[in-house]
Amino acid sequence: MTRTNTVCRLASRPVGLPKVSDWQIDEEPVGTVSDGQFLVRVEYLSVDPAMRTWMNAGRSYVPPVEIGEVMRAGAIGRVIDSRHPQFAVGDEVYGTFGVQRYAISDGRDVTPVDTTLAPAPVHLGALGISGLTAYFGLLDVGRPQPGQTVVVSGAAGSVGSIAGQIARIHGCRVVGIAGGPDKCRWLVEELGFDAAIDYRAGDLRRQLKVHAPNGIDVFFDNVGGATLEAALARLARGARVVVCGAISQYNATDELRGPANYMQLLVARASMTGFVIFDYADRYGEAVVRLADWLRSGELRSHEQVVHGDVGDFPDALLALFRGDNTGKLILALDGS
Ligand SMILES: NC(=O)c1ccc[n+]([C@@H]2O[C@H](COP(=O)([O-])OP(=O)(O)OC[C@H]3O[C@@H](n4cnc5c(N)ncnc54)[C@H](OP(=O)(O)O)[C@@H]3O)[C@@H](O)[C@H]2O)c1
Repeated sequence: MTRTNTVCRLASRPVGLPKVSDWQIDEEPVGTVSDGQFLVRVEYLSVDPAMRTWMNAGRSYVPPVEIGEVMRAGAIGRVIDSRHPQFAVGDEVYGTFGVQRYAISDGRDVTPVDTTLAPAPVHLGALGISGLTAYFGLLDVGRPQPGQTVVVSGAAGSVGSIAGQIARIHGCRVVGIAGGPDKCRWLVEELGFDAAIDYRAGDLRRQLKVHAPNGIDVFFDNVGGATLEAALARLARGARVVVCGAISQYNATDELRGPANYMQLLVARASMTGFVIFDYADRYGEAVVRLADWLRSGELRSHEQVVHGDVGDFPDALLALFRGDNTGKLILALDGS
């Protein structure tokens, strides 16, 4: 049977927000599965802010996606043909399959997806890289103590919403920063945050003073830029700043500048630490057990925003992250055959 693949390739390196012309959508025959390989029909694509950073040339924690290369993406799909001893037709699997409808894999870094534990999209959210990032970033890097104040930026997003809930489970006072009143209401009323600040309403510094009157013990930062500067100005003594991401800077066309008030780290005897989730790979298992327990008990809620479409809808799905369209984990479900 001849199958046609739809593939999204990087056509040029974007300047600022990616444009339609930075992408190339191709239709081409699916390759042949050789011994030791299997064919996956991709069902759910993870749409991640970091994808924008992978499109840039230069040094990072992973090599850049090259021009003409299939866009890198984590995804869940079903094995539909196999000549691999460990992967059978019908298996649901997670891997870096790329933005395409079909992927041929040799099984490296591919893991089974246990849909008896939770539906597949949750394995890209709370039980996937987002949940793991929130778990290790908060607990290992942030080291919150019960009663301390934890502030999370990008709080209504995938990582942020989980990090804030884990802080709440650990007995912390949790303040989220997010865009718009609806997201803020969701954080407090649905996820049990103690307070939420709409950064788009302005005056973030004053709002932090109101909602973190004793200062910030842990700042879990997904946003960077002006948000980071506002939080540095409110650090409690001995605070930990967790550099998870800096989405406000990912489309910057000017040279990045560090926080102007970084001397607040000295004043507060604070630390600021970056981390990359892949460094925790040998501890993923312990985190998944705890995240799954919290999901089962109802202490942790996973929220996925699943957009249905085709490979050609990926460029706009990526832009949705920078517009702030998503609440929770943004996923592109590839419908059809
Ligand atoms: N260190 C690691 O290993 C690791 C692993 C995974 C992810 N990350 C990082 O974690 C962060 C969150 O990722 P995610 O997958 O959970 O994405 P996400 O938060 O679900 O989606 C992005 C959100 O960022 C907010 N945003 C977009 N542009 C903004 C701006 N200019 N200023 C302030 N907020 C803005 C939007 O929400 P609003 O409506 O609230 O603006 C948007 O919904 C990213 O920085 C990502 O790179 C790091």
